[in-house]
Amino acid sequence: MKIIKVNNHCLWLRYGQPIATESLAFDTQNTEELSALPSLPVKIEIMENKIKLSFGLDEAAKVFGLGQNVRGMNKRGGLYESFCTDDPIHTPDKKSLYGAHNFLLITGEKPFGLFIDYPGKIIYDIGYTLHDEMNITISDINADLFIFQNGTLKELTLSFRSLMGNSYAAPKWAFGYQQSRWSYGTKEEVDRIISGFEENEIPCDAVYLDIDYMDDFKDFTVDEQKFPKFEEYVRELKNKGIRLIPIIDAGVKIEEGYDVYEEGVENQYFCLNSQQEPFVAAVWPGKVHFPDFLNPEVRRWFGLKYKTLVDMGVEGFWNDMNEPSIFYTEDRLQRTIDMAKKSEGENLNIHSFFELTHAFKSLFNHPDDYQKFYHQIEGTLINHKSVHNLYGYNMTRSAAEGLEKIDPNRRFLLFSRASTVGLGRYAGIWTGDNYSWWEHILLHLQMMPAINQCGILYTGADTGGFSGNANGQLLVRWSQFSLFSPLFRNHSALNTRAQEPFAFDETITRIMRNVIKLRYALIPYLYSEYMKSVTQHGVYFMPLCFAFEDGFSSEVDDQMLVGESLMVAPVYRENAKGRYVYVPEDMLMWKAVTDKIEKTEIMKKGIHYVDLSLEEVPIFIKKNSLLILARPAMNVDNLDLGELTVLGYVTDEATYIYYDDDGITRNYERGDYSEVIIKVVYEHNQYTVTIKNNGNHTLRKVNLILVGPDDSREERELLIDQ
Ligand code: GLC
Repeated sequence: MKIIKVNNHCLWLRYGQPIATESLAFDTQNTEELSALPSLPVKIEIMENKIKLSFGLDEAAKVFGLGQNVRGMNKRGGLYESFCTDDPIHTPDKKSLYGAHNFLLITGEKPFGLFIDYPGKIIYDIGYTLHDEMNITISDINADLFIFQNGTLKELTLSFRSLMGNSYAAPKWAFGYQQSRWSYGTKEEVDRIISGFEENEIPCDAVYLDIDYMDDFKDFTVDEQKFPKFEEYVRELKNKGIRLIPIIDAGVKIEEGYDVYEEGVENQYFCLNSQQEPFVAAVWPGKVHFPDFLNPEVRRWFGLKYKTLVDMGVEGFWNDMNEPSIFYTEDRLQRTIDMAKKSEGENLNIHSFFELTHAFKSLFNHPDDYQKFYHQIEGTLINHKSVHNLYGYNMTRSAAEGLEKIDPNRRFLLFSRASTVGLGRYAGIWTGDNYSWWEHILLHLQMMPAINQCGILYTGADTGGFSGNANGQLLVRWSQFSLFSPLFRNHSALNTRAQEPFAFDETITRIMRNVIKLRYALIPYLYSEYMKSVTQHGVYFMPLCFAFEDGFSSEVDDQMLVGESLMVAPVYRENAKGRYVYVPEDMLMWKAVTDKIEKTEIMKKGIHYVDLSLEEVPIFIKKNSLLILARPAMNVDNLDLGELTVLGYVTDEATYIYYDDDGITRNYERGDYSEVIIKVVYEHNQYTVTIKNNGNHTLRKVNLILVGPDDSREERELLIDQ
């Protein structure tokens, strides 16, 4: 074992050899090798080629983290697995979802963080078997452990984030509202949806193309019948301010004459079976091969395939089915069919009937099928199961690196379904196939901060729910939560009720128009906070206890902080006319309907019941903090960022650094961005406001709405010298 000190907070313990060629923790230049193991907060045992970590949980201890997973923000009480899984039914008894995010924070007198850099299965028993113990089992000794100590929860997270380096920066237009469905499968259908937005005057920046745009589910093809003159169409929509975002799936259809298939076979770019032939699995197109994304040459090849669509004007992609999802393997299907044939005419009893149905049900993503194929890493065959969690990550990395070669200075929209820690450097994620269930609003609220802790900042849920049927009320309340997430996309499944913002009735259409306009008003703030998190290794969503150490804040897991100024407390119960909110310090509550700032009220520290009609969104502005807003527009490119409203709750002094850049290029990486410093001082019942324009921002005018200690409100305009 090797022990390395990385920084004041982080100790790195390296067991065995990493299974994959690279470690996921990255930017580790300042390291110092230690000869003795300092005392650690966890007990480490090596048992039968596994690593077991254990530690006691006192009654007050809470365990945050694990990124995308089920249950509350505090993971205590659950049994979890780190194994990217395509399971669309996200109920609390599930152990894993699409992502595998091995970062945890444990509270206590001396809080500590733990990151396990290992690409196979890890089992987390967090006070499940024994209430006061946590046991983690890593299924190999070839793993790296990073232990973060000596800091607050926030400091430990930032230290972990800084190890990984900067996060992916989505383009600014990707902060606009986005509309998706499986499927808008023809040009006429897409036109109908876009007209719906136009006629109802609802802003929108992107429409998604699901698998049906492809020619027979073949990646990087477009069905000319359904989308004639695709290139012209992409450009025509872009002129209207709408981007088309096609899906790309991991499996490559087996079909003679299909270039991706043929090149892959010829160059041995696909994962292999035990006979060293390309492994066959089945997904949407039927039989497919899986590109071996762990091989850098394959990543280069597949990444450049995106050029076909980029050349047609496409600026964004979503990578799917990359756990990878397996509908069936040929031998398992055959065995199941044989079993069914043998059952024909039989008197099936309790055992034989359930054995038969189980065989069919477990065809999909059967755990043993993940042991049937291999990757080649530096000439060695590695069984997929031991590196499973790297697959979706490397598919998306391949896309990101390819897109960078294709158009080096452009920021593309890119997000993935499967992920592991480290993906955040290349792209974002969406949280996969949820349901139109009220419980899933809360589940996503609880997941978002944990996903951010792993450095994946561009994220969001299928708003309104993917499976099942939404009603208008659910869509409204879900949107009132999603309007704070970087990715605000409404997506739903085949054969479910339509859930576009105008698909219900006039009341819902009106409220949805307002909710989406509110989103556009908030974009300067949301984008500024997002980009600061990207470039400063920060987190965008945080649990309350990251900023407030009052004890009770760590109990609250249905509210969260969004950037440095805001706390949000969405409604997530059907027919609720309001909700209880814990206010950890005096805050200004704005009951927002659109961008109009009408109802505001100072809320004292404590627990309050807040009445909220269906159209009201409670936004809490922290004390001595400022929120910036724009006038909504039909899309991000048309926002006038020269005139902003500043809403502040200032009892002493508040400073806000408003970050902005062109939103489309990588020039920000070379210092081409602006920071407007807005400072408000409240003294002797008067406000003094100074605004410093650093960089070439074109801010001309600011409309100030300032609320003081005794609810005094001052409104005035300020013209800015250019
Ligand atoms: C998967 C994706 C979903 C998509 C569907 C069809 O279930 O998670 O978003 O709509 O496949 O491509």
